[in-house]
Amino acid sequence: MKREDIDRIIAELGELKCRTLKEVEEARVRFLGKKGEVTALFDEFHDVSKEMKKEFGRSLNELKKTVQAKIDELRSSVEVEEASAGSGTDLTMPGDEFGLGSRHPVSIVRQEIVEIFRKFGYDVAEGPEIEDDYHVFEALNFPDNHPARDMQDTFFVSTGHPNPLLLRTHTSSVQVRTMEKMDVPIRVVCPGRVFRNEAISARAHCIFHQIEGLYIDEGVTFADLRQAILLFAREMFGPETEIRMRPSYFPFTEPSAEVDVSCNICHGKGCNICKGTGWLEILGCGMVDPNVLEASGIDSKKYSGFAFGMGLERIAMLKWRVNDLRHYFENDLRFLKEFEAAPEV
Ligand code: PHE
Repeated sequence: MKREDIDRIIAELGELKCRTLKEVEEARVRFLGKKGEVTALFDEFHDVSKEMKKEFGRSLNELKKTVQAKIDELRSSVEVEEASAGSGTDLTMPGDEFGLGSRHPVSIVRQEIVEIFRKFGYDVAEGPEIEDDYHVFEALNFPDNHPARDMQDTFFVSTGHPNPLLLRTHTSSVQVRTMEKMDVPIRVVCPGRVFRNEAISARAHCIFHQIEGLYIDEGVTFADLRQAILLFAREMFGPETEIRMRPSYFPFTEPSAEVDVSCNICHGKGCNICKGTGWLEILGCGMVDPNVLEASGIDSKKYSGFAFGMGLERIAMLKWRVNDLRHYFENDLRFLKEFEAAPEV
């Protein structure tokens, strides 16, 4: 056994080319088969002198590994070639890139709000988008002749029925469903899609999203409502945020208020976003009217609570300054992609 035998095999290996799996197998037999060249060297190894055994032993083992690796490499490249020849595709071409999607701005805002209220101990509740008059209006203390009950404002699914089906115009219907189902104390937020019969423009849309909040327990007061909204506003818009409450009216809350947050752009000085007022309106709220509690079987003498509701597109608009509502529904990828890592402004 000579050093040259090993070197010769390595040189041959370098030249070795195979076009078919059959040729690869022949090469394997030629080198590593029972009568193969490498196997023969192992046989000769018995006669190698004691002093040389160590050195030859190592070289032989390395040789065997090298040959095996070469055969494996040849086999897989022939396999790839055969597969691509058969299918008409070139498997060595770089793959198609799958663009990773990004979250919709409304989903980002919804998740943020849900997370904030989760920290305050609120669960998430849901209700149907196709609702009935009872849950959207009747149980919420809307008088019979309220304009929201007009075809002009609400999409009706069925009419001519005492309790017609309609597309919910607000998520306050989920308040009712939650009070019907859950025992007091109740602490929930209810995100969802709502529908109103509006002509589509930059400032109005017939579909949008709201998130409703409801808290009912013994001794809940307006001060608790104010504090919950203040804490939420500071989590959402920054620790310096102030809120102000203006008296308002909703049939299902008494007293009712609209809440503004201090403009996080000009910090109250007045800019074009807050139209010079220093304040931005974010939600409607109030103490749940006793009639509403009673309609859902909650003892209004024992329990009180508050509710609030806000538009998610509105919050997204404040966050990212996208002031045309239509963008939120067109699913234009150029718009959607802006929110992959959109900085907060
Ligand atoms: N549902 C009201 C709206 O859509 C908002 C609201 C919710 C007001 C809860 C008070 C309490 O405008």
